[in-house]
Amino acid sequence: MQMYDLIKKKRDGGEHSTEEINYIIENYTSGIIPDYQVSAWLMAVCFNGLSHKETVDLTMAMARSGDMLDLGEIPGIKVDKHSTGGVGDKTTLVLAPLVAAAGVPIVKMSGRGLGHTGGTIDKLESIPGFNPYLEKHEFIKQVKEINIAIIAQTAELAPADKKLYALRDATATVDNIPLISSSIMSKKIASGADAIVLDVKTGRGAFMQNLKDAYELARTMVEIGKQVGRRTVALITDMNQPLGFAVGNALEVIEALETLKGNGPNDLRALCLELGAHIVEQAGVVKNTEEGKALLKKLIDDGSAIYKFEEFVRAQNGSTSFIENYDELPQAKIKEPVLSESSGYVHSILADEVGKAAMQLGAGRSKKEDDIDHAAGIMLGKKSGDMVEKGEVLAVLYANDREKIELAKKRLIFSFEIKPEKPVEERFKLIYDVIDR
Ligand code: URA
Repeated sequence: MQMYDLIKKKRDGGEHSTEEINYIIENYTSGIIPDYQVSAWLMAVCFNGLSHKETVDLTMAMARSGDMLDLGEIPGIKVDKHSTGGVGDKTTLVLAPLVAAAGVPIVKMSGRGLGHTGGTIDKLESIPGFNPYLEKHEFIKQVKEINIAIIAQTAELAPADKKLYALRDATATVDNIPLISSSIMSKKIASGADAIVLDVKTGRGAFMQNLKDAYELARTMVEIGKQVGRRTVALITDMNQPLGFAVGNALEVIEALETLKGNGPNDLRALCLELGAHIVEQAGVVKNTEEGKALLKKLIDDGSAIYKFEEFVRAQNGSTSFIENYDELPQAKIKEPVLSESSGYVHSILADEVGKAAMQLGAGRSKKEDDIDHAAGIMLGKKSGDMVEKGEVLAVLYANDREKIELAKKRLIFSFEIKPEKPVEERFKLIYDVIDR
């Protein structure tokens, strides 16, 4: 087989066999096929697409390129959750302990973030002492004992995807639905869970800016999961405005804790209950999502959810006193309120702009090598639909550098759309659909 012929085949609209996909992935991962040939093939994929069969084959070839975790030692149905990412998305910090408290074993491998804020691991690293690096035998033991471990994704997990993603990033071939689906699902499949719950975000602050693409991505990933024998369900959820009020690592940890204590923002709580209800249903703990929601609400109200969070952080070496005393988390030297320049109603808060403002404050990375300021970020004072008076606080900016505040302030003001008339409530949907086949 020659890579030249496979590029030509895809360029001319042909369909690859399983052997051909395996050939490309195996030989690219081992360095035999050079970047320039795979770049040409990726561009041909962007123009001519991949069939369902090719997409499943690509997913499995990438999953098999590294460790395939066997979680068989852990009793019960293991569930993994993935979000396609958005501004203020701290759902894993709430959901993982919440469903673990319901008896679902959750093994979560998470990444660091590139862009507006950190990823789940960066957020957890705001916690003094927290260790995201566990050996396989350690995290399996931990999940057997307390149902939960959240660890940093290792280099051995789907290395083909890592190499391919870096190439896609440099060749304008990231935004292609079969490539995105196979990239995400290869890592989920290699992580070993029996069931996968996906949160596919759509809107200004999401990867999939329009609903049609979000549906296509959700359906493709659900299809891949089913074909390879993993129970998979996807929720399509809104990312036009940030989720909750907090954007930034330590600030998001605090908001997640408040949600586990029963005091979180309505949208974050509602989304976590909905996603969590699907997780406990997939795990066979409840018969349906209504029962699931009732169970999860009870676990928040009786303190089991926050107790599970504490147990999880302690197991991974983190200090737990911050759970009652948020001052022990990294603190920003400057807290600058941004005031509204007009009165009216908030019609939109451009999530992507808020995300960029948070990044300017130091909460995210623009390059992989950048350091994160765990204390930096934004606390919104208003959400879409709220009434606002001139001079009221729209948001508070947290940073350790005055220059960063000035840059972010302009962006933040620009991100709020305030008009005199009341907006129609229906515009602010949180959950658009559930895709399970
Ligand atoms: N996230 C991934 O893991 N892969 C993609 O291709 C896009 C987003």
